[in-house]
Amino acid sequence: VTKGELLYVGKAKQVFSTDNPELLWVHYLDQATALNGKKKVIIDGKGTLNLQISGLLFKELSATGVPTHFVQDLDGQDMLVRKAKMVPLEAVLRNFASGHFVTKFNATPMMKLDPPVHEFYLKSDDLDDPFINDAQVIALGISDEETLAAMKRMTDTVNTWLSRRFAEIGITLVDFKLEFGRLADGTLVLADELSPDNMRLVDADTGLSLDKDVFRKDAGPLTPVYAEVLNRLAAHPQEV
Ligand code: C5P
Repeated sequence: VTKGELLYVGKAKQVFSTDNPELLWVHYLDQATALNGKKKVIIDGKGTLNLQISGLLFKELSATGVPTHFVQDLDGQDMLVRKAKMVPLEAVLRNFASGHFVTKFNATPMMKLDPPVHEFYLKSDDLDDPFINDAQVIALGISDEETLAAMKRMTDTVNTWLSRRFAEIGITLVDFKLEFGRLADGTLVLADELSPDNMRLVDADTGLSLDKDVFRKDAGPLTPVYAEVLNRLAAHPQEV
């Protein structure tokens, strides 16, 4: 497979076409952003770490039967994925109160949320990715009820698997964001990435952040933290 033209530049990734019409080439950037891109910094090594974490988690999740867009990781900062028509929603799942759930509701930080909370946000840079409820999604024709239900079911499945996977390496999965797309044949797949850019992870013993909150809160260098997550995952591969 050879890399084609640049199709899309995101905040942490670039997407290229390939010579295979069913495949896309994703390049993970050495860049961190927060506040919807208003805070932006180049961080050497971040792209490679996110590629490796994302590749490892996609591979393991696919092995457990969750349909994903992942095909294979390439050298360095690149990954091949199946082309999917993206649902323009961010599916957030919260196991514990943190981030905007705390600031919005004045909830006690790390309060357990039982059952876990599903939220959707509309992907729109112009609108700053606003919260959107199911009725609004349907009224606006952004997606349909079945797709929303399927996304929630898949998010729950990912949560169950990912929470256990991280618990086994001493990490609590606080919350995360997923994105979904449809393959040409209509199959709904988990797309985007699975990295500490899109999850809140805290060390189960110390409570310290092992994710992008370190960058958001200027709490120190990000790459050692991402390397720690990768090393723990790689040192304890999923049992199959
Ligand atoms: O900021 P908030 O508390 O709503 O974030 C919830 C979860 O979704 C966090 O894990 C965060 O990293 C993720 N998220 C994301 N991309 C966004 C917004 C949130 O990955 N645009």
